[in-house]
Amino acid sequence: MKNNNILETLIIKYKPLFVGTKKSNLNFYNTNPDLDFLLDSKHKKIFVTDTTIFNLELLKPFFGKFSKIADKKTGGTDYSVYSYDKHGLVVIPQGEAFKTMDSVLSIVKTGLDFNLTRKDNFTAIGGGVLTDITAFAASIYKRGACCEFVPTTLLAMVDAAIGGKTGCDFDDYKNVVGAFFPAKALYIYPVLIQSLPEKEFISGFAEAIKTALLFDKKCYEYMKANKDKILKRDPETLYKIITFCAKAKAKIVEKDLSEKNIRMLLNLGHTFGHALESRAGLGVLTHGECVAWGISRSVKASLLLGLCSEEYYNDVINTLKSFGYETSAVHPAFSDSKEILKTMHNDKKNSSSNVRVILQKGICKNVITETTEDIILDALK
Ligand SMILES: NC(=O)c1ccc[n+]([C@@H]2O[C@H](COP(=O)([O-])OP(=O)(O)OC[C@H]3O[C@@H](n4cnc5c(N)ncnc54)[C@H](O)[C@@H]3O)[C@@H](O)[C@H]2O)c1
Repeated sequence: MKNNNILETLIIKYKPLFVGTKKSNLNFYNTNPDLDFLLDSKHKKIFVTDTTIFNLELLKPFFGKFSKIADKKTGGTDYSVYSYDKHGLVVIPQGEAFKTMDSVLSIVKTGLDFNLTRKDNFTAIGGGVLTDITAFAASIYKRGACCEFVPTTLLAMVDAAIGGKTGCDFDDYKNVVGAFFPAKALYIYPVLIQSLPEKEFISGFAEAIKTALLFDKKCYEYMKANKDKILKRDPETLYKIITFCAKAKAKIVEKDLSEKNIRMLLNLGHTFGHALESRAGLGVLTHGECVAWGISRSVKASLLLGLCSEEYYNDVINTLKSFGYETSAVHPAFSDSKEILKTMHNDKKNSSSNVRVILQKGICKNVITETTEDIILDALK
């Protein structure tokens, strides 16, 4: 309804975002991580890691410098605080179950305890859970402090740490609280992947397959041809894949940081995948295994709509299967298709009663669309 009572209107234009988020420097290394240079800074830093990463052999020389000063608790998150020189370190429990507001606030609280200013830094050393919550904490700390990442999982290196989506889970919904807040710098050491549990490695690789399917046929063919090397985590092969995926994602987020248009493509497999991840219970399945299953359902929906050929559908399904992903219409971890559909409706990316999905006409031929409930249910049986 028109409001006719306005006497005057004034429009205020703003410069985009916080100055610390203007650009991200991505640095790739093919050596073991020597992170001491991060300590040599005129600014204070709060490092954030989890209990598993804190004990990684490759990172012991770095974390070993810190001395424990307290065990603390914020809501449901128990955490330990360490210090070295003027810097602090927060160690929270590992896993998606701790991707919570309480964990975010434990980082904020440590920032306050160390008297960080907005010019100082929050530095995540970890996987996607840590990069997401640390950057979110930085975004709300005194209305915006700097952040930087040392991603330690394949998933974080190829996807989560790049492009400024931050946040945490709430009330059983994934990533419903958050902000766009890119990191100032990323320090990427692919060697860290060698210690990842198999499940986590395979989880991260799903996002790499997604990126190849969306943007590079050559990379997709490279993945198929080098399956054994990938599964054996051959460093050279992984380095190639990581740098390719990081560059592909960087190109997209540079054009569309806040997901108004082409960034939506990166959600291939995610609307189905997030619904499964939530319904199976957060933390039961890895993010990547849900995304891989979601990709299989998206190409099935593409086939049902006559968008892609049977040959393309079979090729994608066989590739996913060859890397060990579940592709059956009814996922063994959660079999109620109607509940999956209901959760897909709740996904924050939907704008109408139809369901927003990313579909494909073929390799790199991507379609952002909304589709009917019938097609979704058909893709789930
Ligand atoms: N912001 C984004 O654009 C974006 C994109 C994709 C995913 N995500 C988010 O990322 C999260 C998943 O990230 P993840 O898969 O990295 O999970 P994660 O951060 O939970 O890490 C997985 C597990 O691996 C352990 N680990 C990390 N590095 C290790 C190493 N080098 N060696 C041994 N163990 C190691 C961790 O302690 C943890 O137990 C999800 O919450 C998802 O929503 C965000």
